[in-house]
Amino acid sequence: MKGLILSGGKGTRLRPITHTSAKQLIPVANKPILFYSLEAMQEAGIKEVGIVVGDTWKEIKESVGDGNKWNLNITYIHQEAPLGLAHAVMISQDFLGKEPFVMYLGDNILKEGIKRFVNEFERDLPDAQIFVAEVTNPQDFGVVVIKDNRITKLIEKPKKPPSNLALVGVYIFTSQIFEAVKNLKPSWRGEYEITDAINWLLNKKYKVNHLRVKGWWKDTGRPEDLLEANRILLEDITREIKGKVVNSSIKGRVIIEENSTIENSHIRGPVVIGKNCIIKESYIGPFTSINNKCEVIKTELEDCIIMEGSRILDINGRIEESIIGKEVLIKRNDSKRTVKKFVLGDHSIINLD
Ligand code: TTP
Repeated sequence: MKGLILSGGKGTRLRPITHTSAKQLIPVANKPILFYSLEAMQEAGIKEVGIVVGDTWKEIKESVGDGNKWNLNITYIHQEAPLGLAHAVMISQDFLGKEPFVMYLGDNILKEGIKRFVNEFERDLPDAQIFVAEVTNPQDFGVVVIKDNRITKLIEKPKKPPSNLALVGVYIFTSQIFEAVKNLKPSWRGEYEITDAINWLLNKKYKVNHLRVKGWWKDTGRPEDLLEANRILLEDITREIKGKVVNSSIKGRVIIEENSTIENSHIRGPVVIGKNCIIKESYIGPFTSINNKCEVIKTELEDCIIMEGSRILDINGRIEESIIGKEVLIKRNDSKRTVKKFVLGDHSIINLD
């Protein structure tokens, strides 16, 4: 069994972060989202993994390298333009050959991993297998129609959902899928849709099995999804303090990595603080991830993702539910007047009181 991780795409819903970074490299609980899928592949015993990359190929290559860290053999597959999930399958045919493969959307995280999913496929050897999960808002997903415990059809974002079972971003396909994708036409949004390819298999009476996800699953397409994934993953951390703590209270499950200093501050877990950070006279509240080389002075943070090298200095009031990119500076005005000054990239979002 091979693996195919989709790590191209446009990432429009995560702008402005995706103006400068691949969305799959956004850190959640201080680890790039993409690494969770690589770990899942490794745990399932998969060795050969193709990563489909687009404009952000360089950054992804630099971060994942040859895959040695996960005992994986990585091949990068370049997608000229983000023409859809089925298009990504089409261009990967040479790499995939005749072997079945797990296709994993690089912005998804599944707590249970994919081992049970792969085992189940190998037990029954269907033509394709999909993962489904119960959701409260099926109208926002690809939804399955089930009759006598078999899938008969998939409907993309239905106005009147036939079930509350949504497609999760992990699939197993056999080489029949190449025949399906060759027969596709672009959808109304100009993309080759994987749901159309699976419907093609169903119409041709190929056997498509489904399995329900155990535990949580998250598609991190929107900012609120990133914060939720961060909260869920931080729930599972174990306390480990390697940095220096001076005159501070550190409560609950908190990770503080090497060469970080916490001074005159309150940290209430779950919180993770990376390497080489300085936290002074601050409160860092639950569900906050602070990446390497950050500085937080005289500031209150809660439920935030702060990326590498950012500085937050002397801020009035608490910063909550925020995603701060790399090397951002947020500081109090030196002027006595109540003026606000900004240098913001395209699509930035600021909420003021
Ligand atoms: P999506 O979230 O469906 O698309 P997107 O990344 O373009 O984001 P947005 O809708 O916010 O503009 O993609 C799911 C995953 O598949 C994600 O990791 C990107 C990847 N992908 C590709 O590799 N190639 C593609 O052609 C598409 C559409 C997505």
